[in-house]
Amino acid sequence: MPEPKSQFDIGWKAPVSHQKPPGLESDLPVEAAVDQVPTFDGGSQLYKASGKLQGRKALITGGDSGIGRAIAVLYAMEGAEVAIAYLQEEEDDAQTTKKWVEKHGGTCHPIVTNLRYKEECKKTADKALQAMGTINILVNNHATQMMRENILELPEDQWELTFQTNIHPFFYLSKYVLPHMTKGDTIINNASINAYIGRPDLLDYTSTKGAVISFTRGLSNQFVGKGIRVNAVAPGPVWTPLIPSTMNDDAQEGFTAPIGRPGQPSEIATCFVFLASTDSSLISGQTLHPNGGTIVNG
Ligand SMILES: NC(=O)c1ccc[n+]([C@@H]2O[C@H](COP(=O)([O-])OP(=O)(O)OC[C@H]3O[C@@H](n4cnc5c(N)ncnc54)[C@H](O)[C@@H]3O)[C@@H](O)[C@H]2O)c1
Repeated sequence: MPEPKSQFDIGWKAPVSHQKPPGLESDLPVEAAVDQVPTFDGGSQLYKASGKLQGRKALITGGDSGIGRAIAVLYAMEGAEVAIAYLQEEEDDAQTTKKWVEKHGGTCHPIVTNLRYKEECKKTADKALQAMGTINILVNNHATQMMRENILELPEDQWELTFQTNIHPFFYLSKYVLPHMTKGDTIINNASINAYIGRPDLLDYTSTKGAVISFTRGLSNQFVGKGIRVNAVAPGPVWTPLIPSTMNDDAQEGFTAPIGRPGQPSEIATCFVFLASTDSSLISGQTLHPNGGTIVNG
């Protein structure tokens, strides 16, 4: 088999590595090609923007690295102003995201927080509103995970922390931001393929992602009549700092999709552009599945 042409080519394999959670993009052996998307022949090219989000204001949680960074950069390329929320430990990554956004002519407001606490969710929403004047797009993207093979070895503390991090802030942030939203505004929640395939060694994480899907559906039914759409994205394997900071060697060795490689963050971010723009004006309460060919539906 010929050498892969780029990280977007069949056969590209993410190098196994390890780092402390929450993990830094700058410590990945290969950083993501954040403003690049695939060409038809497996190469890469600069994402072609067309003003789809001109003048929109977006709050993106976990926007310092991985999928969140790619969303911030593509949103900026499409004309949006962004605020990114992230943990203190990730300041360096956040500053790099800010530079990427500025490189593409955008404005990025970094907000250090710990969304595990509802008071921090309130402060984060307030800071983003203050910085940008409003929020048209709320991207609930952040999450944590930790592998445990068996429910009997899954500490109660971990179960609670995962729920406090991965789903409670989606509720709090939506509750604090929605009073400022009007017709045309959107909420987009990051779920995971694991909610659909029931990944056994990520039981707590997988359960929170199931909650994200149901939260998306219920909230859409509350707000779609007001012209505010709520959708979810359920990515398959994507090479980000989450992986080397939480997954063992075997899991990383097998970290690929039916298409023959793991995904790149920008390939997930294009779904977030679509769902934030009027291209998806008739879509609400739904989930997109950028997962490299695993058929899940639903
Ligand atoms: N990487 C994958 O294979 C994959 C697959 C499916 C879904 N996802 C989802 O994509 C989303 C983004 O993850 P990623 O893979 O880009 O990894 P990532 O490590 O780059 O991003 C996760 C971010 O979550 C943020 N975060 C974690 N705990 C937080 C807290 N308490 N307060 C504030 N921020 C916090 C961190 O800033 C971190 O940057 C997550 O929801 C994840 O579940 C990832």
